[in-house]
Amino acid sequence: MSNKYNLDKENSITDEIYFRNRRKIMSSSLVIPFLLNSSLFASTRKNLPFIKDTEFSTNEQTNTIKQITSYNNFYELGSGKRDPMFNSDKLKTDEWTLTIDGLVEKPLVLSMDDLIKRYQLEERIYRLRCVEAWSMVVPWIGFELRHILKEVKPLYNAKYVSFESILDPVNLPGQKRNVLNWPYREGLRMDEALNPLTLISVGLYGKVMPNQNGAPVRLIVPWKYGFKSIKSIVKISFVEDEPICTWNQQAPDEYGFYSNVNPYVDHPRWSQKRERRIGEFGKRDTLLFNGYSKFVNNLYTGMDLEKFF
Ligand code: MTE
Repeated sequence: MSNKYNLDKENSITDEIYFRNRRKIMSSSLVIPFLLNSSLFASTRKNLPFIKDTEFSTNEQTNTIKQITSYNNFYELGSGKRDPMFNSDKLKTDEWTLTIDGLVEKPLVLSMDDLIKRYQLEERIYRLRCVEAWSMVVPWIGFELRHILKEVKPLYNAKYVSFESILDPVNLPGQKRNVLNWPYREGLRMDEALNPLTLISVGLYGKVMPNQNGAPVRLIVPWKYGFKSIKSIVKISFVEDEPICTWNQQAPDEYGFYSNVNPYVDHPRWSQKRERRIGEFGKRDTLLFNGYSKFVNNLYTGMDLEKFF
């Protein structure tokens, strides 16, 4: 995610060259011992039990673990693309609990062990399209959010789902400053939350989630811009009114509540027609709903997507 001040730089060619050169330097032997400490490599993470999904997974080439864990947006760990990797040990995930509350019949508080044992994990290979016009393909491990919904039984007046990330200004470097209105928050309409594509993810590449990707538990909504996919979730609440979403609150003219990937509606400061797949040269066309139209079209029938961007 970029704010007003660094976005143009992010999208520029010079930045792309800089990024590629940095990648070359990073892979040199000098930095490897350091990276091993920063939970970058898959081997340092625990395996997860999962089955492979075929219905929703793309068969496009996945990005490498190195790309996925070294080019991140996670403002709690810093606003540069490499800050989350370098600061990954600042996110403390021990004794993590996920609270599910609000307008429900049966609220729940789950430890990570509970969560992983309770739901059948699947590998879902999804495209992730960032609002900054880059994308990746990631083999997430997780389960459909609607399985939690079935269990907690939302009340008739629950119309939206609101998500809240960790608040830990003592340890998280980004939260020592008011870059965003902490904690990070996101929200979905109830039917979006119930869509089978909407995933609660606890890992990637077969292992538990790297800190920089939002350990231990995050949301993945593949037809929306990446910022909807909130990381390091501590609370999911069922609510009656449209919930506060961090980037929408920060810059309402730039980031709407829906934030569906849409090449026909430009961001006020740049086009959304094309995107750069991390690791590739050149750009490719961006697809409506990030290519997931057949699964989500019906959620927006009759809605003016320019107004509800
Ligand atoms: N969640 C929190 N809590 N904080 C953040 O800064 N950044 C968002 C999203 N979730 C963010 C977040 C943005 S802008 C993107 S593009 C994705 O995470 C990036 O996910 P990735 O780093 O796993 O690719």
